[in-house]
Amino acid sequence: MNLDNFFQTQKIKGFLAHDEGMLLHGYAKKVAQLGPCLEVGSYCGKSSVYIASACKQNGSILFALDHHQGSEEHQPGEGYHDSELFDAGSERMNSFPAFLHTLRLAGVENCVVPLVCASQTLAPHWHQVLGMVFIDGGHSEAQAFYDCQNWSRHVAEGGYLAIHDIYETPEEGGQAPRLAMQSVVEQGCWQKVAQVKSLVILQKNTELP
Ligand SMILES: C[S@@+](CC[C@H](N)C(=O)[O-])C[C@H]1O[C@@H](n2cnc3c(N)ncnc32)[C@H](O)[C@@H]1O
Repeated sequence: MNLDNFFQTQKIKGFLAHDEGMLLHGYAKKVAQLGPCLEVGSYCGKSSVYIASACKQNGSILFALDHHQGSEEHQPGEGYHDSELFDAGSERMNSFPAFLHTLRLAGVENCVVPLVCASQTLAPHWHQVLGMVFIDGGHSEAQAFYDCQNWSRHVAEGGYLAIHDIYETPEEGGQAPRLAMQSVVEQGCWQKVAQVKSLVILQKNTELP
């Protein structure tokens, strides 16, 4: 699939710029032999398509984790609320139907495993080594730290941790993802290998400190 064409012709809701998505796609392509990919925060499937299309090319898969009830900023009355994703019956946000629709449009359903639950529900039970983890779930300090700490440890040596919404100053954006990323870097076994806009890619060193 040509990702430029796909995203020019299909209106997919989401928060990733196209050049950020292409960076994710490129790193996902490198890691098939290390293990599957996992993302925290799929929303309507935009980031999922960039990663899953790389997995499809390489015979890998993407675990796409999201409770699909939206983050704090997606709730009614908040800045990023989208009323089209509000389910009046359950009186909740529900991005799962839009997520499935995006996967079908992109032809990547067969290489994505949706995991519909909270990150905290799954992380304590996870044992699979991963080639790449992409963190773009809850952006509160508690959630960003939880996700970075609890999912980065499953990345294989030589694999990648991608984190979205990394801003140097509060004027540019919320600081929780950057502080959470910093706490991972301080472990000493990660180095930054790429950045496009607010998307940062870290690689786990092949030699531990
Ligand atoms: C910023 S959006 C993700 C955007 C997406 N990566 C894209 O490319 O458009 C954040 C997503 O994280 C999910 N989320 C927030 N907190 C979560 C948690 N604790 N567990 C699972 N998903 C969570 C929300 O439901 C929301 O869909």
